[in-house]
Amino acid sequence: MHPLDPLLKNNRNWAQKIHAQNPDFFPTLSRQQAPDYLWIGCSDSRVPANEICGLLPGEIFVHRNVANIVVHSDLNCLSVMQYAVDVLKVKHILVVGHYGCGGVRAALGNQKFGLIDNWLRHVQDVKAKYTDHLACFNDESTQVDRLCELNVIAQTISAAQTTIVQNAWERGQELAIHGWVYGLKDGLVRHLGISLTSPAELAEAMATRWEKKTVELQIPDPA
Ligand code: CO
Repeated sequence: MHPLDPLLKNNRNWAQKIHAQNPDFFPTLSRQQAPDYLWIGCSDSRVPANEICGLLPGEIFVHRNVANIVVHSDLNCLSVMQYAVDVLKVKHILVVGHYGCGGVRAALGNQKFGLIDNWLRHVQDVKAKYTDHLACFNDESTQVDRLCELNVIAQTISAAQTTIVQNAWERGQELAIHGWVYGLKDGLVRHLGISLTSPAELAEAMATRWEKKTVELQIPDPA
């Protein structure tokens, strides 16, 4: 048996199941997609966008990279955002980190893995910004989780600063950018209290969350 045979078998079972429930599902979806959401998350295999949100194919547009980073020179991420916002007209961009993120842990501990160290420099920028705050925690895993949250906030602000979001807001398009963090241990998503829907809200978030380094220590448990 080929090592990939189980995957192909799973695929056939999955397609049959969906077809049995709705014979029009695949033909309809093949003609167009109209997702309301863009997910920008970590590549980590334990953080699958569709499953976590209970969404079917066609319902969420997805971009994933190591440590869910949004940088303004990343043509890949920007292209996904531009297509999602300008063409698909998504209404929500979800920037989703996760606790225990290996990329964030590597950035925090200055671990060396090669080329990816350059990519993780962006997380180290966040770490440098919050050095004093992170030093308040003794154990490494809490520091990692705090940096996971802070990284999401920074990347949410970064996403809102792109020309794609700025132009969408300027032309009056409805678009919100949200910061979420996912718990590997319980499968639950926490909203980090940052949802940006306008330049004014972005300015406010930058003034409080970023410039003055205000951090909310009490992340509410999901309802
Ligand atoms: Co990760």
